[in-house]
Amino acid sequence: MPTPELLTPPPEVAAEVIADIPSDWPALWLQMLQARDGGRHALLRYTPATGWVVSGECSARSLELFMAYKPMLDARSRKDLSPWVVAQLGQSLDGFVATATGDSYYVNGAHGLVHLHRLRALCDAVVVGARTVATDNPQLTTRRVPGPSPVRVVMDPRADLDGESRVFRDGQSESLWVCDARHAATARQRLRDAPDTTEVLAVEGLLDERNPAACYRAERAVEALGRHGLRLLFVEGGGITVSRFFGARALDRLHLVVAPVLIGNGRRGLQVPARDVMIECPRPPARTLRLGDDLLWDLDLKP
Ligand SMILES: NC(=O)c1ccc[n+]([C@@H]2O[C@H](COP(=O)([O-])OP(=O)(O)OC[C@H]3O[C@@H](n4cnc5c(N)ncnc54)[C@H](OP(=O)(O)O)[C@@H]3O)[C@@H](O)[C@H]2O)c1
Repeated sequence: MPTPELLTPPPEVAAEVIADIPSDWPALWLQMLQARDGGRHALLRYTPATGWVVSGECSARSLELFMAYKPMLDARSRKDLSPWVVAQLGQSLDGFVATATGDSYYVNGAHGLVHLHRLRALCDAVVVGARTVATDNPQLTTRRVPGPSPVRVVMDPRADLDGESRVFRDGQSESLWVCDARHAATARQRLRDAPDTTEVLAVEGLLDERNPAACYRAERAVEALGRHGLRLLFVEGGGITVSRFFGARALDRLHLVVAPVLIGNGRRGLQVPARDVMIECPRPPARTLRLGDDLLWDLDLKP
């Protein structure tokens, strides 16, 4: 039986989310965490043909939630050991992830935050861009749900950050500062007195030598993280970072959590290559899930 502590939501979870969690979800979530780590899972069954399915009694809402997280469990159970990448963006109806001043607290409601923490718990690493670290100084841990905190990965190819951010200094979980190999020495220098949970991951050819001002090669970061033992990657933002991974065709799945709010102008959400005619515009297979007042669009980018 699951231990009572794990069935009790941590204090940071808002009351409106607790009221909306079906009574059978905490036990199912716990079994999903056990399946993630190869442990016992009486409510779940796995076959290569179906992936993970719920085999016991389950409410309709818990099944809906399960289906949103099933791709992460399935990806972990693949024989193929290549990395698998899911990204998310919480955005306004008009497509922004933050205001022009960088304020993103909060685009999404409390349900969206809990959803983020569930994705962190199911993946090996959470990946964010340098501006998100500079603006938000995030912790990137799983405080709102039971589950392990992922390795925290910061994409900063030119080592622009000063190395003083919380993610590099708080020692709450491992952290990797991903730089192009030519800038790794600068990053290491800035981390001289940081805890040994933080290291620099130098990636050869992350920046194009002929055009260093161009955006980085996200696929090289994915490969390097895979070699580092991080197979399930969760790219959490911001819009530029998710768009770069999307542009490099490095994403398997994308969660766009759309909130009923209008920002007017600010930090852009997903930006994709423009097409001239509608018939050429990608229309990936999609599922939707209500998250409080927000709507999750769960897009399968490699159907
Ligand atoms: N709603 C959400 O889901 C969500 C999630 C995460 C973050 N956010 C918000 O999104 C915003 C950041 O997203 P973003 O798309 O602008 O960027 P981002 O994806 O977080 O980071 C990439 C950008 O950061 C730039 N950069 C590099 N070093 C920097 C530094 N020291 N200070 C500032 N920027 C630096 C990079 O410049 P180069 O182009 O030169 O490489 C690149 O343009 C923040 O306001 C954050 O609060 C929202």
